[in-house]
Amino acid sequence: MPAVQLQLIAGRPPAAALALPVAPGNPEPALLSVAGDDGLGAECTALLAQTAHTGRAGQVQNLPRPLGHPRRVLLVGIGRGDEAGWRAAGAAVARTAVRETSVTVALPPGADPAAVRGLAEGVLLASYRFRLGADRPDQAPRLRRVALAVDDPERDGYPAALATAQVVAEATCLARDLTNTPSLRKHPGWFVRQLEKAAAPLTGVRVKVWDEAALREGGFGGILSVGAGSARPPRLAQLSWRPPATAQQHVVLVGKGITFDTGGVSIKSNDNMKLMRKDMAGAAAVVAATLGAATLRLPVRVTALTPLAENMVSGSAQRPGDVVRHWGGRTSEIRNTDAEGRLVLADALAYAAARLRPDLLLDLATLTGANAVALGKRTGALYSDDATLAGTLTAAAREAGEQVWRMPLVDDYAEALGSDLADLNNSPDIGAGSVTAALYLREFAGSARDRWAHIDMSAPSWIDRDDGELSRGATGWGVRTLLRFLATV
Ligand code: BES
Ligand code: MN
Ligand code: ZN
Repeated sequence: MPAVQLQLIAGRPPAAALALPVAPGNPEPALLSVAGDDGLGAECTALLAQTAHTGRAGQVQNLPRPLGHPRRVLLVGIGRGDEAGWRAAGAAVARTAVRETSVTVALPPGADPAAVRGLAEGVLLASYRFRLGADRPDQAPRLRRVALAVDDPERDGYPAALATAQVVAEATCLARDLTNTPSLRKHPGWFVRQLEKAAAPLTGVRVKVWDEAALREGGFGGILSVGAGSARPPRLAQLSWRPPATAQQHVVLVGKGITFDTGGVSIKSNDNMKLMRKDMAGAAAVVAATLGAATLRLPVRVTALTPLAENMVSGSAQRPGDVVRHWGGRTSEIRNTDAEGRLVLADALAYAAARLRPDLLLDLATLTGANAVALGKRTGALYSDDATLAGTLTAAAREAGEQVWRMPLVDDYAEALGSDLADLNNSPDIGAGSVTAALYLREFAGSARDRWAHIDMSAPSWIDRDDGELSRGATGWGVRTLLRFLATV
């Protein structure tokens, strides 16, 4: 459930707190939508002139008017006035107005539906916070309602823009919740239950689960080997959305679902391990996006496939030097048990390519620390041999407010994947860790290899501090990109 109720309303009813958009201008920033005859417009224009507001997207000037009505005015920058600018503005309103229970945002007359969508997404995503059950009930007043005041609430595109934003935000927050949950609670079976619960109310959605016995029966050796060290057994879950009309395209989304990554016998330092409950963020993103696609009833067939395992250290854990046999028969020499993500993804990709007949095959994974080394904390590393697919994904991410950068699948490096014991080894030692991981995965994309893309999202899956629409902790990264992408397929 979203923490904040959003509503489109006509005009500008009396509100305790009013947010007014500000656009950059030359020489002065401009106050938009100060409709009204109560002198407020003149007052706010005067106030604006006395502040250092530039209209930059997300910049806020908080103006208390203790005896006035409204009691508070927020002057909020919308930058270029595109969806990203409005998203930043929405996030800024949500973060500044935490001591108000309701705020009205006045949109300029004739605003584009993209303004409604951006504003709504910004408000909803920035209002997110993770709470574990009933502990620490919140005492402080919290923003509960945001009204979007427009000239005509029924205007073409407005209700749809709001509804889409709500679905996208809800899906993103589901992925955040799943990823933020501590691994004491979160294990493969738990993840499957959450998925089943979320899927139950939707029509056209199916869930299929492989338990340990079924994985053995099916030959999913990578998933079993990574899960072997845990008391809580691995799973493979498949969630599918099939629209009523015959869909043109089938998109298969594979997500890495390591519910905790200790590194295994090649154990991580505590510093590198402490946040590894997030190592299922890829699985969370593909599941949430598929549920979002079903809720929006997008005319595309989507199947999410999530290999789920806990990478633990124990007497039954896999060892360096072991050889595992993946679904479809190819083998890997384990050189490093901490390169476990690619082992479970190998099974899932091989299965998806051979059995699910994808038109497009995408995988999302918190795969390597090298993602952040190459691209920093906010950008996913995108790999694909299909330039068109890479371009579409890059554009979808940009529009969604996320970022990917296409990285090279350097063919020369593939040599480093060799092994004397098996078809491949899981930990090449030539550097370029995010690239060699992608090259390894490509080996399992089979006949879908030319319609495959991989996104290493280790870095952007988490943020240490609140920033714009991202609340600290799990970001739900990928859900917005995938839903944009699926809407254009
Ligand atoms: N889950 C980690 C990657 C990761 C690191 C995600 C930091 C998010 C933040 C992955 O399983 C891993 O351990 N990768 C190793 C691979 C190496 C052993 C080849 C890495 O990146 O060091
Ligand atoms: Mn690992
Ligand atoms: Zn991992």
